Amino acid sequence: MADIEASDTPSSHATTTGMTGGGFYDANSATQWNAIEAVLPILDDAITSLQLRDPDCVRLADFGCSEGRNSIAVMSRALRSLLPKTDLSVQTIHSDLPTNDFSKLIANLRPDGQSVYDSNRVYSSVVGGSMYDQLLPERSLHLATTFNAIGFLSRRPVNRLPGYIFPNGPSTVRANGYVSDDDRSAFALQARRDVECYLEVRARELVPGGKLLVQVFGSTDQARTCDGIYDLLNDAVLSFVDKDEISRESYDRYYQPVYMRHLDELTAPLRDPQSTVSSLYSLDSTRSYEIAVPFNQQYASDGDLDRFAKDYVNFFRAFTEAVLSSALPETPERADLVDRIYRQAEVILKANPKSYPFRYMAIAMLLTRKD
Ligand SMILES: C[S@@+](CC[C@H](N)C(=O)[O-])C[C@H]1O[C@@H](n2cnc3c(N)ncnc32)[C@H](O)[C@@H]1O
Repeated sequence: MADIEASDTPSSHATTTGMTGGGFYDANSATQWNAIEAVLPILDDAITSLQLRDPDCVRLADFGCSEGRNSIAVMSRALRSLLPKTDLSVQTIHSDLPTNDFSKLIANLRPDGQSVYDSNRVYSSVVGGSMYDQLLPERSLHLATTFNAIGFLSRRPVNRLPGYIFPNGPSTVRANGYVSDDDRSAFALQARRDVECYLEVRARELVPGGKLLVQVFGSTDQARTCDGIYDLLNDAVLSFVDKDEISRESYDRYYQPVYMRHLDELTAPLRDPQSTVSSLYSLDSTRSYEIAVPFNQQYASDGDLDRFAKDYVNFFRAFTEAVLSSALPETPERADLVDRIYRQAEVILKANPKSYPFRYMAIAMLLTRKD
């Protein structure tokens, strides 16, 4: 019987070691790209209104960039607006946890040994560290972005979550567990502290007038991005608890340390005069939206259940596997057990696809660093 324990220590101010690497995240993040693409007009506005006050070069940084496919596409879009606006050199900075697959990121940045950005004025670098720490020099940054990442908490606020594997609790459709009000409050508070911390450290790095675009999956009044995927992972893990391959004690301690915020929760520190960050930024715009999910669309058009189940499970495997794996004892069988859990998820989904409807809701805000 496997006991869940904290065997793989993540970086400080982080609760995951990152996404599944070796190209797996890049190959399974078309949905996240759709969520990014929806806010690219906000990025264009940010670049257009950016005032460059005699800098030596212009610096753009993306925090939580993973293997880089989506991050590079974002930077390409930013450069399209920025390069005609200035003769200065530009530095793109791609940042993620030290345990991220940086080899894949660097290969993506220099395909054929040349910069992916195809300009002799653009220089790229990678920075390893938690986005909840200051990672760049004071007043050195002109634009900071983060996409689909700030929901990952900096620390585990509770040791056990005995009724379910995700802080926001199960969907009303599946209703396969519970999270107590006290636990929910602890996660909401941690999520609030994390936003404040992220805004504080970025405020130090940004130049006055610098722009900050924060986008992340979350909740709206219509739906929550956790519904469906975590119900399915919860059911798959519980089936191994039922077979005594994972102990109940282990299940009680395992959860994915991610929180689905409502837009109000994302902007709360900026509206709170007591918060240190409210005086540091002006809030330019906000957005709360839903995007189309490619594997749902594909299934609706071809009815191919095998393909749907594989794409659906690979989608959430890419961002849950590291935490699930590190929660299991480091035995020679661990990789196989993890693999069987995700295969079991496919089996459960195929038996009852209507029980796990998934929608992708996202929230975003654009801020300007005050003088
Ligand atoms: C779902 S991926 C998003 C990747 C990319 N931005 C996109 O939208 O496709 C979340 C990323 O956040 C990173 N991450 C999680 N916690 C972090 C932290 N404390 N500091 C920096 N990055 C973190 C993960 O390693 C992962 O690469």
